Amino acid sequence: MKKSRETWGSNLGFILAATGSAIGLGNIWKFPYITGDYGGGAFVLVYLGCVLMIGLPLMVSELIIGRRAQKNPVKAFEKNHRAKSPWQSVGWLGMASGFLILSFYSVIAGWAMAFIFKSIKGFAGTPDQIQQQFVDLVVSPSDSIMWHTIFMVLVIAIVAGGIKGGIERWSKILMPTLFLLLLGLMFHGLFNTDGGMAALNFLFQPDFSRLTAEAVLSALGHAFFTLSLGMGAMITYGSYMKKDTGIVRDAILISFLDTFIALMAGVAIFSLVFHYGMEPGQSVGLIFKTLPVLFADTGPWVSVPFFVLLTFAALTSAISLLEVVVVYFIDEKGWSRIKTTLVAGILVYLFGILSAVASFTMPFRGSDQGFLDIFDFITTNYMLPVGGLLTCLYIGWVMKEKDIAEEFGSRGLPFQMLRLALRYLTPIGIALVLLHGLELLPFMEY
Ligand code: TRP
Repeated sequence: MKKSRETWGSNLGFILAATGSAIGLGNIWKFPYITGDYGGGAFVLVYLGCVLMIGLPLMVSELIIGRRAQKNPVKAFEKNHRAKSPWQSVGWLGMASGFLILSFYSVIAGWAMAFIFKSIKGFAGTPDQIQQQFVDLVVSPSDSIMWHTIFMVLVIAIVAGGIKGGIERWSKILMPTLFLLLLGLMFHGLFNTDGGMAALNFLFQPDFSRLTAEAVLSALGHAFFTLSLGMGAMITYGSYMKKDTGIVRDAILISFLDTFIALMAGVAIFSLVFHYGMEPGQSVGLIFKTLPVLFADTGPWVSVPFFVLLTFAALTSAISLLEVVVVYFIDEKGWSRIKTTLVAGILVYLFGILSAVASFTMPFRGSDQGFLDIFDFITTNYMLPVGGLLTCLYIGWVMKEKDIAEEFGSRGLPFQMLRLALRYLTPIGIALVLLHGLELLPFMEY
């Protein structure tokens, strides 16, 4: 007998799980640091434009594709089209992206866990000494690998627990707590430090002279990364959705919450950066270097919860990455969930060691770089946008209009607008940004 497919326990459960996938290191670690690196306001504006014009239509699309097919991403593209459809390769690309992203994501999440314990001990000394702790952690292979190991064990355990009992149950507790804590940190930054105004100016006053081609590409890539798009995660989560919920409303809510959290984190962190007169462009180390300097004043009551929740936010995202890889083998090969999760998880883990050891480097884009940065750059800026581009070409030009309309819920003006966006606006937008990032646009000067 064929077991019926698992579904979410409730729509709230779905929203929290999908928001949990979207909100993660991308919002709290990555968004502030790339905003710092690319110079602030103008980058933020391009990023917001990408979320609205590319991210939101794509999130709706992925949920529609998933719920229509009730299948894993590889099979979903086939089922909504025809057997042996070449579009299933979009699903394969997604699985590859998920595998690669999780392998380095876990290393960063491991740093977050390490900082829980550093917080308990407390941060003391001069700002330079405090910031050195992060450097020490990153260059120590044994520490980085140990935390990467612990994090992957947690991810595997939750994914092995399934949809309702594992992913949904945990998201329901963790996400609301994270929100409250960030709210507190943001108010602290705005009203208790001298950096609040400077942070708002930095984030919201665009200076377009600082906007490079790479910055535009990264803004697009980040819109994909932060909304968990372009690799089938939302197709997978959509496939567990019940038929009677409004996809558009849910997608708007998820995108809004995700963006809001990133901006909150940005305000909280840059207030401190400016309060202490630090440099905004500190790359991957930004939150692990700046925040501890503040935490030396506030004590463990603030720092421990912060890093605990950062770890949790990373967990709810990491499980969605692993789920995409796992669900294919459960659906198609009939493997048990536990066995599949273990095998896939261990492979990701082993591969992640490349990213965990900072001294493993390779020439990439003109300099020697660590694998973590290389994998991050390739997946975020190329693999996810390509996956997204193909997904919207698929739903815009291949999938039956009747099927889409049924999942969308109406054929009125919003539906027509979405159709138009997915056929022209979104794919052209992604293609332009990709070409621009490769410095291949004929009418631009590089
Ligand atoms: N969105 C998560 C974050 O911002 C990361 C993530 C989870 C992700 N699932 C994904 C990124 C799928 C791309 C695709 O931290």
